[in-house]
Amino acid sequence: MIRTKDSTVAAAAIIAGDLVAIPTETVYGLGADATNDSAVKKIFVAKGRPDSHPLIVHVYSIDDIAPLVVSIPSSASLLCEKFWPGPLTLVLQRQSSMCEAASGGHATIALRSPSHPLTRELLRKSGRPIAAPSANLFGHVSPTTADHVIADLGESVSVVLDGGPCEVGLESTIVDCTVNPVAILRSGAITAEQIEAVLGNVSGTSDTPAPGTLESHYAPRCEVRLVNDSINAEVIIDELNERGTASRLIDYRDQLEAFAHNLYADLRKCDDDNIAVAVVVLPVAHGIGLAIRDRLFRAASGS
Ligand code: TXA
Ligand code: MG
Repeated sequence: MIRTKDSTVAAAAIIAGDLVAIPTETVYGLGADATNDSAVKKIFVAKGRPDSHPLIVHVYSIDDIAPLVVSIPSSASLLCEKFWPGPLTLVLQRQSSMCEAASGGHATIALRSPSHPLTRELLRKSGRPIAAPSANLFGHVSPTTADHVIADLGESVSVVLDGGPCEVGLESTIVDCTVNPVAILRSGAITAEQIEAVLGNVSGTSDTPAPGTLESHYAPRCEVRLVNDSINAEVIIDELNERGTASRLIDYRDQLEAFAHNLYADLRKCDDDNIAVAVVVLPVAHGIGLAIRDRLFRAASGS
């Protein structure tokens, strides 16, 4: 495994059909050439992910998606124009001859143009669309640093492209553009309000399955206990301390961006420090607070 900041080294590995961990503004991805089915299959093996779970395909810009999809609905072009490059994934009808393995055999394909400069260089230099799920073991907390990737996947990756800590810290918003009005399949930094401001109506439901948004995910080993306010949280921490239970308070009050940015690193640190119970104060249910709450409910559901 090579750890590097050189996108040329990473591009050569992608072209050779090897796995490359890529930095993005959301979380690190475990990337492979999306047009090479045997390279893509290595991703499922390394993660321990069921191969029917579709991956997100990363592209440099909207100009690269035409060969991969049946058509580009106006909702998708409007959203691309406004939010790409950025933390927004669009689900479209897949061109049936393209990216079969990356799409887990589904008739649709999820596409995103990431904004991290190193991964943009990699996309440009390799000239390939890059399939990449989050670079963690299946079901575990997503990685937001190169160290997190190496801790989960180590030698099963050929190259780790080290782009520093991820800015947003939570996975992209996923919007299904195969339905009208469009539907949000996963919340993220681009909020429902921002999408509505561009398109008007957004429906709450979709028949398109987004596996991975269904089961317990994003879970650390420690128990995650969610509470609504700081005062309650401190009472619980005191009780746990009295019982000799190793516990830690995670409370960002109204600092939503910092909460999103640090959440996964904080949860991983709890495990590294042998914390038994993380007591987390839930953020308000608006803006990126909705995405933070979504991930916290999933992290807690395994506890
Ligand atoms: O921010 C992100 O989206 C990160 C970075 C690396 O780009 N990627 C990421 O990938 O979170 P992953 O595999 O951990 O989550 C992808 C989600 C899964 O819930 C998957 O089911 C959904 O995207 N997805 C992928 N293709 C889909 C499709 N064709 N239809 C519906 N959902 C899809
Ligand atoms: Mg994931």
